[in-house]
Amino acid sequence: MDWQETLLNKQNLKEILQTDKYDEELFKTAREIATSIYSNKIYIRGLIEFTNYCRNGCYYCGINKSNTKVERYRLSLEEILNCCEIGNSLGIKSFVLQGGEDGYFSTDYMVEIIKAIKTKYPKNALTLSVGEHSYETYKRFFDAGADRYLLRHESCTLEHYNKLHPDNMSLFNRLKCLKNLKEIGFQTGCGIMVGSPYQTIDNIVDDILYMYDFNPQMIGIGPFISHKDTIFKNMPNGSVPLTLRILAIMRILLPNVLLPATTALGTLDKKGRQKGIFAGANVLMPNLSPEKDRKKYLLYDNKIATNEEAVEGLSKLKKLISSIGYEISNDRGDYKY
Ligand code: 5AD
Repeated sequence: MDWQETLLNKQNLKEILQTDKYDEELFKTAREIATSIYSNKIYIRGLIEFTNYCRNGCYYCGINKSNTKVERYRLSLEEILNCCEIGNSLGIKSFVLQGGEDGYFSTDYMVEIIKAIKTKYPKNALTLSVGEHSYETYKRFFDAGADRYLLRHESCTLEHYNKLHPDNMSLFNRLKCLKNLKEIGFQTGCGIMVGSPYQTIDNIVDDILYMYDFNPQMIGIGPFISHKDTIFKNMPNGSVPLTLRILAIMRILLPNVLLPATTALGTLDKKGRQKGIFAGANVLMPNLSPEKDRKKYLLYDNKIATNEEAVEGLSKLKKLISSIGYEISNDRGDYKY
């Protein structure tokens, strides 16, 4: 069967998403495609959560601006560089700076941070995940040396997007940001939460087709997990099997895409990350944030922030990955064009 052709049909997608009947073949196909391009290598991104201040009020997110229970923190440039140093000494060749949309980190300051990291670690890739900004700001980040940018679109269906976000946020702007990022030359990542409140199977089908059309270099897909201090606290968590199915589908549709087995997947299922790799994922993002702040960057409840998932457990992670027939790569892990 030509899986790619099959998956470009809405009706087929709907059926495949809603049954476990095809999983075995789907996952096997996705895995084979991943290994044909990236062999058995799993790329590592050291995640540095450098601020949990945020100007936005996304209803699903634990660090949204309305959550007064969060103890807010910002890392200094020195602390950020210290995280990079720890990562680099462990052989991590790719860093992700992630934070809320925090005005304290002005464009000028971000440019200073990017330049400082890239000057000290010229061989390492730097990814930003700092939300929506103007074309000019993104261009300055890029010219300062940032290589990649993650900005999940969350939902390409206006009605659904608006159920997840307050009125001052716009799907139009988000998609425009993604276009700008790609045009500027970033390796760009979009993505969704699986099982976010009010999401329908049709929404997921449209997101899959949107991602296929946008053809990003990276895709972030993880299950929604409710956070106790948000208005979605009583909403059910996303499904692990459905998440795995969507990972496999995206691997088949976009063979070269860099696809993480996310922390959220590992949070809902102890074996989530291994399962993600078996469904075609080829990236892991261990945490490089300082221990003292890690528990303050909680986008959702019960986030894993201990040993194996954290950098301290990198050697454990290496063993785990090799026990399933894969190998942690020590290179930047760029997109293969
Ligand atoms: N559950 C799962 N993922 C979440 N994110 C934010 N809040 C949650 C949650 N409650 C994801 C969003 C965002 C990324 C940084 O984290 O998709 O883009």
